[in-house]
Amino acid sequence: MPSPAQFQGSPQRRYYTGRDLDRAQAIADVRARAHRRMPRFVLEYLESGAGEEATLRRELDVWHEWCFVPRTLRDECHRSLSCSLLGRPARMPVAVAPTGLNGIFQRHGDTALAQGAARAGVPFVQSTMSNDPVEEVAKVPGLRHWWQLYVFGPDEIWQALTDRADAAGCEAMMLTTNAQLFGRREWYARTRATKTRPTLPTMLNAARHPSWALRTFNHGMPGFPNVIDFVPKDRRGFFESAFWIREQMPKSLSWETVAKIRDRWKKPMFLKGLLHPDDILRARDSGVDGVVLGSHGGRQADGSIAPLDVLPRAREIVGDSVALYLSGGIRRGADVLKALALGADAVLAGRAPLYGLCAGGADGVARSLAILHDEALNELGQIGAPALEALGPELLARRADLPLAPHPTG
Ligand SMILES: Cc1cc2nc3c(=O)[nH]c(=O)nc-3n(C[C@H](O)[C@H](O)[C@H](O)COP(=O)(O)O)c2cc1C
Repeated sequence: MPSPAQFQGSPQRRYYTGRDLDRAQAIADVRARAHRRMPRFVLEYLESGAGEEATLRRELDVWHEWCFVPRTLRDECHRSLSCSLLGRPARMPVAVAPTGLNGIFQRHGDTALAQGAARAGVPFVQSTMSNDPVEEVAKVPGLRHWWQLYVFGPDEIWQALTDRADAAGCEAMMLTTNAQLFGRREWYARTRATKTRPTLPTMLNAARHPSWALRTFNHGMPGFPNVIDFVPKDRRGFFESAFWIREQMPKSLSWETVAKIRDRWKKPMFLKGLLHPDDILRARDSGVDGVVLGSHGGRQADGSIAPLDVLPRAREIVGDSVALYLSGGIRRGADVLKALALGADAVLAGRAPLYGLCAGGADGVARSLAILHDEALNELGQIGAPALEALGPELLARRADLPLAPHPTG
């Protein structure tokens, strides 16, 4: 949408795409640099959603349906985003979401994400489909390390994976429930001629990004060290193993499996990827410690509601009994505040830190998270809320409900 500050495209505007990450003002600048540096198929993997990308769009639009109704003449001297996540202090109520295949953005992408998260003082959730061993990531100084579980193959596999994450010191686990059946990500699929072979234009485009290729493949193709032992020897190529694992994901994952995993994993456990109130209700009663509302960043069911749409109802359902996180569309510090005001305890950010990884490795991840932090801290003051505890629905108005109704006391 054109900015109201521009008249027929004047003054001309351009996002900053240079290497001085401190000059990136917003996630949009970091994203612009990521687009400059990455080949097309990598960007399609990172950016694309399922189907016609209606859910992806909704997750970004939904923030604009809620407007702050700022308070004024309040003490804003001691603003802070500090909070407690799972009973331990965090610098802000954000965690880096689990994302698979980070090794195609750069070699040791998972470790770089973990380093960026540790510097920002927030947890990093490592995906089952990560490309660095969980034990290596665990060595990142100051890291709060959480594990994301995909269930595939027989029970022995998830048992081995959770035991391994536990032994590596992971503090919490997120079981992803909405990706057993892989979403139809058409735009990403169009970059491939067959399941495992890129199209010729994809290859030519990748060849035009030699510095990316050097950063990523200087020691060969990335692998899936946390799961590769379960993959048959003749299917261990990069794309082959990813597809093989997908094929092994039971489409009948059920609450019985959730109960079994809950029973084995003694530390805090979240269910990730819920949207329906009945599932949230069931999750509340299943003994998990938290629920992550989300649609996998618009990559699974297309045409579904955004997590923010269901958040107030979800909070009503769970009360204070479990933690409630929101995942999807976080691009601004203000998004974090809106989610908290509507009932979330924290949010997961997926693409925002990934743009940082693509733009500048661990420094880029830290920069993305610093931008979210600084924006949120500023906005907190702008709306007259001295601390996160002051956030509530009374500081927001839904566009559809405007103009504001007169206050009952006149
Ligand atoms: C490139 C990419 C890979 C992802 N891989 C995983 C994954 O391995 N496991 C998982 O639970 N979620 C995965 N997700 C979903 C994220 O955890 C998160 O829910 C989503 O990115 C949030 O939306 P956002 O990107 O708009 O912040 C992935 C998302 C992206 C963009």
